[in-house]
Amino acid sequence: MSQAQRGKLNPSVNPFTPVFGKVPSYLAGRERIISDMICAFEVGEGDPNLSSVFVGARGTGKTALLSRLATEASSRGWVAVSVTAVPGMLDDVVQRAAEQAAHLLEAAPKRKATGIGVGRLVSVSWENVADPSLNWRSKMNLLLDQLAQTETGLLITVDEVNPHLDEMVQLATTYQHFVREGRKVALLMAGLPYNVSVLLSGESTSFLRRAFRHDLGSIPAHDIEEAFVVTIEGAGKAIEQAALSRAVEATGGFPFMYQLVGYRMWNASRGEGVITEKSVEAGVRLAQGELRRQVFDATFNELSDGDVDFLRAMLADEGETDSSALASRLGKSSGHVSTYKKRLLEGGIIEEGLRGKLRFSLPGFREYLEEVIE
Ligand SMILES: Nc1ncnc2c1ncn2[C@@H]1O[C@H](COP(=O)(O)OP(=O)(O)OP(=O)(O)O)[C@@H](O)[C@H]1O
Ligand SMILES: [Mg+2]
Repeated sequence: MSQAQRGKLNPSVNPFTPVFGKVPSYLAGRERIISDMICAFEVGEGDPNLSSVFVGARGTGKTALLSRLATEASSRGWVAVSVTAVPGMLDDVVQRAAEQAAHLLEAAPKRKATGIGVGRLVSVSWENVADPSLNWRSKMNLLLDQLAQTETGLLITVDEVNPHLDEMVQLATTYQHFVREGRKVALLMAGLPYNVSVLLSGESTSFLRRAFRHDLGSIPAHDIEEAFVVTIEGAGKAIEQAALSRAVEATGGFPFMYQLVGYRMWNASRGEGVITEKSVEAGVRLAQGELRRQVFDATFNELSDGDVDFLRAMLADEGETDSSALASRLGKSSGHVSTYKKRLLEGGIIEEGLRGKLRFSLPGFREYLEEVIE
């Protein structure tokens, strides 16, 4: 960045966003997924990425990624409808899609050169879509027919996948018909590992097992480092090399912690053009406290006694734990161990590496547990 460019930036504005659901200016470690998805939106049909499920623990960036992908799709001419899996979701999909379709067609009256006037088309189909006697699939068919006239695709993003919501299952099963009928549709879902597992294991949603699964685990250190540099320099400051390495290490590759550390170290360097190790240390301390209050306490409260016993047995190892060692340590059967291992993996509390080695997923959670359980 040139001096002149830097001079125009205002370093008093913190570029980090430690807020759930917020799309940061730079998404660390997601270039590959984003570029694959962009390709899929450009191809339009038949790309397996168009039916995708993003799986990750709290704070791994599911909502941020879905929002970013919806924006990418919109800018490529798709109608993108984003909903959360709660009652009323299907109605919401119809209304948002109809609104956006009307807006899109009104904004581009020349897109379709022949046939019925687009203005009329919009109002006629909106009346039909609003017809209470139609079921969801019929309403959607009307909308999709209308969109097809301008070769516009429909992307539905569903955040916080909930396998116990009837509408979730209905959406999944109906979507399958849209795909079979060759319609230009895409469905991107995001959820916690156990919710996605339950959803995919359902009989009526077995179709979704063929959806592309993207696991949003920890982000590699070099991607976190790049994100820090791009974000910091882009907002008008610099960071010392040693300070950068310390900041990267403190995030443990966890997106929410990356934002917390970035936000706090930026503030700690107020009035300075360069972030030093001292500012990083001060920032990391605050960030660790916040991570504890905002994520660890809630995570710990959701654990059962059996989960806590399992995790306590893991603490006996310095680094990773061999899952085969746990049965004797716990005095339980291997069946018991695999049940709890599955629960904790699906809750995003632990991760499994090569040859069944287990480790804690959240940075600092081991130290937290050492304090709160004896
Ligand atoms: N790839 C990324 N790079 C940098 N920051 C990110 C990235 N993804 C998400 N974040 C930031 O991390 C925080 C958590 O992201 P987000 O809310 O998307 O997580 P989530 O997986 O949806 O969590 P939850 O399961 O609680 O809904 C936000 O502050 C967001 O700005
Ligand atoms: Mg979220």
